[in-house]
Amino acid sequence: QGSISVQDLASKMSRKAGELIKQLMNLGVMATINQELDPETATILAAEMGVTVEVKAEKSLAVIEEIQDDPKDLVFRPPVVTVMGHVDHGKTSLLDAIRTTHVTASEAGGITQHIGAYQVEINGQKITFLDTPGHEAFTSMRARGAQVTDIAILVVAADDGIMPQTVEAINHAKAAEVPIIIAINKIDKENADPEKVKQELTEYGLVVEEWGGDTIAVPVSAKSKLNIEQLLEMILLVAELRDLKANPNRPAAGTVIEAELDKGKGPIATVLVSKGTLNIGDVAVAGCAYGRIKAMVDEKGRRVKKAGPSMPVEVQGLSEVPEAGEPFYVVADEKLARQITSARIAVRKVEESKQNVAVKVSLEDLFD
Ligand code: GTP
Ligand code: MG
Repeated sequence: QGSISVQDLASKMSRKAGELIKQLMNLGVMATINQELDPETATILAAEMGVTVEVKAEKSLAVIEEIQDDPKDLVFRPPVVTVMGHVDHGKTSLLDAIRTTHVTASEAGGITQHIGAYQVEINGQKITFLDTPGHEAFTSMRARGAQVTDIAILVVAADDGIMPQTVEAINHAKAAEVPIIIAINKIDKENADPEKVKQELTEYGLVVEEWGGDTIAVPVSAKSKLNIEQLLEMILLVAELRDLKANPNRPAAGTVIEAELDKGKGPIATVLVSKGTLNIGDVAVAGCAYGRIKAMVDEKGRRVKKAGPSMPVEVQGLSEVPEAGEPFYVVADEKLARQITSARIAVRKVEESKQNVAVKVSLEDLFD
C-alpha cells in the first residue's frame, strides 16, 4: 500500500502543513513537510484533527479523501445554547425555569436525571441547553478548539447591571463569533432597572433593537417565570437565521461535555453529538478513552438507541474517563481506536514523567 506526504494530506484536508506537523508532534512523531505517512498514520492524524478520511486502495496507491458532507445531505439541527453571565445573576435559575416550564405531562412528578445538557421542545422545535457552570467550560472547550455553542444567552441581573464576568462573557462570545441574546433577569425585583442595563450594554457595542441596534434583549424573571416563552421564541428566531445544519447519516462526531467514574456503570460521559448519528455498538474515541458504546441515556434517564445532531446523551462503554471538551468521534473499528488512544496515552505518559521530574527537582531544592 502506498503513502501520502504531509503536504499532500494537508492540501486534501484544506489545512496548513504546519498544523499537521504540530499535530504529529503531539502524537510523538517528528515529521517534515515532505515526509511520507503510511495510511494508518494519516488516518489517525486526520481523525485527531476532526477530519474523517477514507483510504482507497487503487493500483496499490492509497488515495486519501476527506469525507465531505454533500450539501444535499444536510438537514436542520436544533440550536445549542450556552447560558453565561456574572455570578449570582441567575443562570441556573433561568435554566431551571426553562426546564420546569417545559417538562412533559408524563414526566411531571417524576425524577429528572441531571446530565450536563438537556433539550426542551416548544411547538415541536427543539433547543439544546448546555448546563455548564458559567463560561469556564465554554472557555476551556474553546481553548480545545471545540465550538459547541451556536447561541449565547447572556444573563444580566437588572438590579446589578454589567459586572466583570458579564464583560468576560461578552468577550468570549464575540471571539467565538456566537450571537448573543441578552436575558435581563430579576425584573420582578423592586430595584430592577432594565433601562440601565441596556444603557451599559451600548458601551460594549451591544445596542438593543428598540434603540436601533441588532441586539435582542428580553426582560425576564427566572423567579416569577416571566417572559420565558418569549426568550425561547427569540432563540428559535436567531437559530433560524443561522441556518444550522448537519448530516445525520454519517459516523458521529461531537464533544465531551462532562464525564465521571460511576461506581456501577464505570466511566460515563455526556456527549453532545454535532454531526452524524451515534448508535449503540459504535466504537468511539475521546481523548485517551475508547470503547464500544454499551448504553446511552437521554437527559431524562431514558435509554436511547441512537443520538443525532445536537442531541446530548450519556454514554457508557469507554475504557476511561475522558476530559470535558475532548473531541469525541466514531471510528471504523476497535483496532483503529486502540491505535489512536495508545498514541495519546504514550504522549500523556511522557508529559506526566516530565511533571514528575519537575516535582522531584523542586523537592530536592527544598531539602538542599
Ligand atoms: P452562579 O452559578 O453562582 O454563578 O450563579 P447563577 O448565575 O447560576 O445564579 P443563581 O441561579 O444561582 O441565582 C442567584 C440568586 O439569585 C439566587 O438566590 C436566586 O434565587 C436569585 N434569582 C435568580 N433569578 C431571579 C429572579 O428572576 N428574581 C429574583 N428575585 N431572584 C432571582
Ligand atoms: Mg449557577
